[in-house]
Amino acid sequence: MSGEIKPNIFFVGAIDWDRKLFEELTPLPDGTSYNAYLIKGSEKTALIDTVDPTMTEVLLQHLQNLAVEHIDYVIANHAEQDHSGSLPKILELYPEAKVVTNQKCKEFLIELLAIPDEKFMVIQDKETLSLGDKTLEFLFAPWVHWPETMFTYLHEDKILFSGDFFGSHVATNELFVHDEVLVYDAAKRYYAEIMMPFRNFVKKHLDLVCNMDIEMIATTHGPVYDKPKFILDAYNDWAGDHYKNEVIIVYISMHGSIKKMVNYLIEALTKRDVPVKEFNLTEFDVGKLAIELVDAATLVIGSSVFLAEPHPKILYACHFINAVRPKAKYLGILGSFGWSGQKLVPSIQQATSHIHPELFEPVVVKGIPKEEDLAKLDALADAIAEKHKALK
Ligand code: FEO
Repeated sequence: MSGEIKPNIFFVGAIDWDRKLFEELTPLPDGTSYNAYLIKGSEKTALIDTVDPTMTEVLLQHLQNLAVEHIDYVIANHAEQDHSGSLPKILELYPEAKVVTNQKCKEFLIELLAIPDEKFMVIQDKETLSLGDKTLEFLFAPWVHWPETMFTYLHEDKILFSGDFFGSHVATNELFVHDEVLVYDAAKRYYAEIMMPFRNFVKKHLDLVCNMDIEMIATTHGPVYDKPKFILDAYNDWAGDHYKNEVIIVYISMHGSIKKMVNYLIEALTKRDVPVKEFNLTEFDVGKLAIELVDAATLVIGSSVFLAEPHPKILYACHFINAVRPKAKYLGILGSFGWSGQKLVPSIQQATSHIHPELFEPVVVKGIPKEEDLAKLDALADAIAEKHKALK
């Protein structure tokens, strides 16, 4: 698929219909894309980003179809290989092209792809570059999601080329967002894994973008937003400081005790009008978990004890949750053990230390839950419901 998103501005990226995992971790139920854009100015031609190295041929075919014989500039908004991986081939076929980027991105590209120093043209924040009748402005936007990330704004057409920021994992042959439900979920999946760990930077750069005059946002993954309000509203919601009245329960139950406790807690929360989503970690979609953690107020972790420690699958989930840093405000811990349960709570707390939640009284039982344990689960449900009532 290729196409003109505005006069003389072309999508020349690659749709990856078959990719199943991103970063060898997050499932991609709807595939993804690596977007690149060609801008033909009256005097100069610029390519905005490239594509994953596995799909270089797709980019080259687009350029051939558009009869591109000369590229003056390749703008590198981000050094990660899914957007820079085809750069060596582009520079080989278009030796006149200069790689236009910031100093930090230049250093990454030299390290990652061995691009020679003389190929670069280093620009500063807010610097502009004329293509004749079109003007590019570079806006440094570090940490969404690498330290070198930046945006490129095309003034005359009011298009923001935002790199990964606002991206969505969707393979589609539609240039623009048509199915907002599909793209909302795919963009939230993308946000949860890639952007949520850097929420403070997201908020800062979002403020900048919301105050710009923008008609289109062209990201490096997923279709172009020709109605940018849709994704700006979604990002304001996800990255904002408010919480959803919702509990996410992740658990593993070796012999059924944790399962009983989880079921009881779900019932107790339901009676108190607190919505719940549960993830049995025997088999789960880590991307779906990240999505649900974007705005839930409370996380509950339930684990059988395995060799005196939390179950390894719980520790894996804790490590992931700690890395993506959801804004969860409260944490509950459920445990069940046979002969040693002392390490369960401190180990889970340590494994989730980045998210600084307030801990409810843990409920850790020996063997199966007894009447007094079920009463503690009722008390936990009361405490959660009470805290959630005070949410803004
Ligand atoms: Fe899509 Fe950070 O690369």
